[in-house]
This record gives sequence, structure tokens and C-alpha cells, in this order.
Amino acid sequence: MKYIWILFLGLTVVSMTVPSENNKPKVTITDTDPSKEIARKVDSILSLMTLEEKIGQMNQYNGFWNVTGPVPENGDAARKYDHLKKGWVGSMLNVRGVEEVMAVQKIAVEETRLGIPLIIGFDLIHGYKTMSPIPLAESASWDMEAIRKSAEVGAAEAAAAGINWTFAPMVDVSRDARWGRVMEGGGEDPYLGSKIAAARVKGFQGEDLSAVNTVAACAKHFAGYGFAEAGRDYNTVDVGTSTLYNVIFPPFQASIDAGVKTFMNSFNDLNGIPATGDEFLQRDILKGEWGFDGFVVSDWGSMREMIAHGFAKDGKHAAQLAANAGCDMDMESYLYVSELAKLVREKKVDESKIDDAARRILTVKYELGLFDDPYKYCDPKREKSVINAPEHHEAVLDMAKKSIVLLKNENNMLPLAKSGMKIALIGALASDKNSPLGSWRIAADDNTAISVLEGMQEYKGNELTFAKGADVSIGKTQFISETKINTTDKSGFPEAIEAAKNADKVVMVLGEIGFQSGEGRSRANIDLPGVQQELLEAVHAVNPNIVLVLNNGRPLTIGWAAENIPAIVEGWHLGSQSGHAIAQVLYGDYNPSGKLPMSFPRSVGQVPIYYNYKNTGRPVIPAPNLVFWSHYIDEDNSPLYPFGHGLSYTTFEYSDLSVSSNFRGNGEITVSVKLTNTGSKEGKEVAQLYIRDMFASVNRPVKELKGFEMVSLSPGESKTVEFTLTRKELGFYNNQGKFVVERGEFQVFVGGSSSATLNTKFNL
Ligand code: NOJ
Repeated sequence: MKYIWILFLGLTVVSMTVPSENNKPKVTITDTDPSKEIARKVDSILSLMTLEEKIGQMNQYNGFWNVTGPVPENGDAARKYDHLKKGWVGSMLNVRGVEEVMAVQKIAVEETRLGIPLIIGFDLIHGYKTMSPIPLAESASWDMEAIRKSAEVGAAEAAAAGINWTFAPMVDVSRDARWGRVMEGGGEDPYLGSKIAAARVKGFQGEDLSAVNTVAACAKHFAGYGFAEAGRDYNTVDVGTSTLYNVIFPPFQASIDAGVKTFMNSFNDLNGIPATGDEFLQRDILKGEWGFDGFVVSDWGSMREMIAHGFAKDGKHAAQLAANAGCDMDMESYLYVSELAKLVREKKVDESKIDDAARRILTVKYELGLFDDPYKYCDPKREKSVINAPEHHEAVLDMAKKSIVLLKNENNMLPLAKSGMKIALIGALASDKNSPLGSWRIAADDNTAISVLEGMQEYKGNELTFAKGADVSIGKTQFISETKINTTDKSGFPEAIEAAKNADKVVMVLGEIGFQSGEGRSRANIDLPGVQQELLEAVHAVNPNIVLVLNNGRPLTIGWAAENIPAIVEGWHLGSQSGHAIAQVLYGDYNPSGKLPMSFPRSVGQVPIYYNYKNTGRPVIPAPNLVFWSHYIDEDNSPLYPFGHGLSYTTFEYSDLSVSSNFRGNGEITVSVKLTNTGSKEGKEVAQLYIRDMFASVNRPVKELKGFEMVSLSPGESKTVEFTLTRKELGFYNNQGKFVVERGEFQVFVGGSSSATLNTKFNL
């Protein structure tokens, strides 16, 4: 290794370490002002780069192994290798494992002119090998520390496998259970979604981004993707200013406040402009108003898709629109690498925009410590010891238990007695070791989850009989759409019915297989797929003592079950430790405390359904039998299970709600309530506070979550829970995108779900 010293225009002194064998400069030190050190180093390296090399930083290729989208035109491996060697690639995705990452990083560092390391991206949606519950499930915990921890575990494993950047968290608010990607998000509420976004960002990035167990996070998909029309993935999005600013934007802003390093734009068009080419979103709002100083990556091929949208004339035009709009990195469109230099020379894109994008990307690379040691994430020993570490399994088990929601428990059907019973366990999902791993689990090993059957088998006091009854779908794979083909085979029914007849209690595990939700998995019907409803009714006919455990990636329409089945447990897709978590809840070794992050509709025709709706001018029946009010003639307006709903094996009572107002334009309002455990078991309750701004210059929702608190109580114990409301909670964005706090009357509700009725009022 020899050292050369270069003095750049008197700006700063940079030391370049050059491996003598291959002439590769590597910037290592030094500046006297540490706060500006990275910026100066980045400027120094930028000044060494050709236009093509700077554009190269803006180019991201998929690796040669996993594919998470359609392969683009000219997307052949030979071309990618060639570009990699020329220094025309700044990042790769879906390259994982120390060996694979080492292989591509070595080319970037040792075979390119400047030896700039790659940033390696990966979808760490809910874990790397040790799988956490799907994000929607985790969101049901309302436990920010557990969610942060879960992201931390995922980051540690991914970073040990050579990865240093994740395309997560997905912070898209969604009100549409038909959209398969609700499984990736925080649910329907912007306030809860913002807290979750911040927790995930902190979990991924930790305190020190350059540590070997943290990765850069990415808030996605900016913006509006969760509002795809009719819940059909990639569909157009049309939303007004009020929804955009008050519902869609907040979790993105919260991600920035939490220090997120990157953003991803989205596939959808928003009010007619594809997000990838949207200057208002990326330059005016994100980098302008919000002052975001990280970089923006496109979604997979979303730049080229602007042609199909009808927004770009051709690939060159698409690259021009995206670069000018503020999209810094091209994921798998191949357009920046092929078009951007020409566009700069033709003065259609100003070179300052290229500099800005490259600077943003290089800065994150510096912050990750890649310039100090490009192979820092590539230690095979660490890879071996960190991945699947026992403490990671403990953390995801804890997360899984906290994610379970007890939807119904008539006559204390649950928990199950631990001995002296015959239990029939029915449903293909009960023995499924793959589905609990959920969708978006690229690195997970197939069939490695603990199944419900395995979890229940650990309780030896009862006689347990298992019968599959029926499969759900014939599909088992991640990227092929055969999952939509549900089985019609009922040959397993008689065995299941027989088992139920001979049992004291029946546990049925029904729902969706792991790949029936996720990207490209929109459903027009959100009932129990296949013949599962028939199976449920057939079993119920011979033994109604059923505990229904749902495994699913989205709210389902389970109206019949809600009416006829005494106990229902929402068990989502809970990850590697799923079966243990579910069994511990069923047997009462864990008292559930989860609360729904999304409303469960009664029927799909109610969708989009959400608790924070606007009142309308005709909210109530004006006179008996009159039809002229906002309702359906064939369905209730209310959801089957509301946002925030979730029971416990104990019961809670709320009383003594009071408000102490000391606001005077800028202060705080304290709301307090007494919460009592009125049941016979120790338990946790998520106390939720909602406000209603009674009248305002823009209609406000009938309820808005503005605070929540997790409280543990022993039987008979009471605690006073306090919430604080400030300008931030009491204001809103008006239709000019301006945050305002308006005087007037507010109603405040506190309770165990969005249906809370205990309320009082105050004036601002
Ligand atoms: C497309 C998805 O929309 C995005 O969320 C993901 O990060 C990329 N593919 C990369 O896999």
C-alpha cells in the first residue's frame, strides 16, 4: 500500500491510499473540522470523477441471483459486469451473503478507476433469515420498542450478510385491504404509522450508521402508493391536498425526523404525474420544504414505466424527467446509465443536478463507513455467528406474541385448559411451516417457521389430533401468480369432521398462505380463500366449540365466523417463531394485548373503510325508514372489527376522564383517565386517545388518534394515564399545504379502540 497526497484547490487535504498493485485511490483522511469532514471528502472525490462516473453512482443494478421485478430490456449479466468494471454502477440490490457481496464489491473497489465502493441494497421487510412477523402484524403490537428491536435484529443479520442498505420501512398508509402490500405497512392511521416509521428507521440505522450491525433505511414509496385505486397494485392514485398532507405525508416526515437516509419513490402516478418524475414531490416537498439531505432511489423499473404511464415519450425522455424531478438513483431501468450523459451534453439536464445526486449518494456511503473499509460488512465469521442467533429468535418470538390480536372470546373460550381435553387441530395452515414466514422473505429458508401444530405439540397435557381438511391454494412460490389458484379439493373434509366430532374443542387455522399477500397480490375478494369457509361451516355443524386462528396478510371479511365462532385469534403471518407464539397465547401463557392497525370490513363493498372518516352532511338517519342518508341499503356502515380493537384475557375499564387546559395558543393540554383492570388476570392494555375538531376551515375526521399508552395492570389495579396534546396534535394541514391550528371546540375520546365512547370537550 502506498500513499499519495492531493491538494484540491486549497479546499482540503485528502489522503488517498492506493493499493500499489492496481492503482486504486481510496480516500481515507483528513480534515480538521469533523462536522464538515464528510462533505469535504465527498466534494474532493466528486472533483476526481468524470460525468459518466458520477452518473454511474446514480445507477443501481439487480444482482445475478434474486429478482424482485420484471427483468428490463438489455438487463443481461454481461452488460452489468462490463458497467461494474467501468465504475458505472453505484449500487446493487439483491446481492446477499458475504461471498456474493465480496465478489461484486471487489470489482467496484479493485477494478474500477476510482475504486468507489458499492452500496448494497436489500428488501429487509421483516427480517433477513430470522423472520419477524410481517410489518402489519408488528404494527398490531403498538409497541414501539419491540418494533424497533425487530428492525434492529433484521439489520444485524443483513449487515452480517454484506448488506448495508434496506428498502424499508414501507410507510404507505393504506385503507384498502384488497391491496396486497398492506402486509408491509403500519396500517390505516397516519399517527400510529408515523410512530412505527420512526421506530423502524431507528431500529435499522441504530445510533451509529457506520457500525457493522446497522444499515441505512429507506422510507418508501413516496408517495401515495397505498391509495392505489380499487386496491389494485400499481394502479393510479388520485387524492386531494388534504389527504396527501394529513394522511399520506406524516409517516414520511416522521421518517426524516428519525434520520432516515434514503427515500424510494413509487410506481403509481399521483394526480396524473408518475411519482418518479414528480418534481413537486421530490424537489419541492421532500428536498425543499422538508430539507431531506439523503438520496432518492426509484422503484424497480419505475423510470422506464413512465413510458407506459403515457408521461414520457421514450427512455431518454423518462431519464430527463426523473433526473430533473429529483430522483437520484435508477433502480433497474437502465436509463440513467444509457441516457443521462447525452442529456447533460444537450443541456436538458443541468450537470449540477448530477453533482447533487452523486453527492447525496456518496455521502451515505461515507456515513456507512464504506470508504474506510469497503469490506466491513463482509466478515464470514460474523455472518455465521450473527445469522439465526438464538437471541434473535427470542426477539422475534417476543414480537410475534405482542402482534397477536384477540378479536373475540365469547364465554372465555380461551385460554385453553392445559390438560384433560381432546383437541382437534384443523386446517392446512396449522401444519404449514412456510406460510408463517409471510411474503417478502427473500433470504429466509423455506419451511423453517414453527407451525401451530409444532407449537401446540409442546403442550403435552391434552390429546391433540391434527387433520388438514383442505389446502388453501396450489401455489407455493414467491414470484409466480399460481397463488391465486385456490384449491377446490374437499377430499380431506371427512377426516376433519371426524376429528372435530371426537374433540372437546376444535382449533382451526385458516386464512391466506404466505404469498397470497404482498406485492402484486391484490385480491378482489378478501374472504377465506378456497374451500376454507365451507370447511369451517362443515366442522361447526358437528362441533361449534371452535377457536379460529387466522393466518393472513391483510384484514379479511369473516362476517360468518364473527357471528358463529366463539373465539377468534388474529395470528397474521408471524415469522420464524409463529407456532410458539400462537400456542402460548392459546394456552394462556401469554395474555394477548394486540390492537388492530386496520379496520376489518364486513364486506368488500365497504372498502376503503377506515375509522378516521369524514362525517358527511348526512351522517344519520333523518327519520325512520328514510333512505336519504349516507349508508348502504344492504350493509352496515360500521366495520366488523374497528381500528384499535383487541381483547385480553382480562378486562379493562376507563373512567374519570379529565382535561386540564393550559394551551393559550402554544402550550399543552393534558388529558388524564383512570384505567382499571377489572378482570382476574394480569394484562396489558393500549389506552388510545382520539380527538375530533368539531368545526374547521377544512372538514376534520370524526376521530383522529393522537396518543396511545401501553399500560400493564394486575387484577384490581388502577393507574392514571396521562396524554399530552400540543399544537402538533391539534393542528392540521389546510388545502394550501399550510399547517394551521384553529380555535374552537374539540372533543376528546379515550378508550380501548377507535369505538371509544368515553369523551369530554375542551375549547382552544
Ligand atoms: C419493487 C417494490 O415496489 C419495492 O418496494 C422494492 O424495494 C423493490 N421492488 C426492490 O425489490
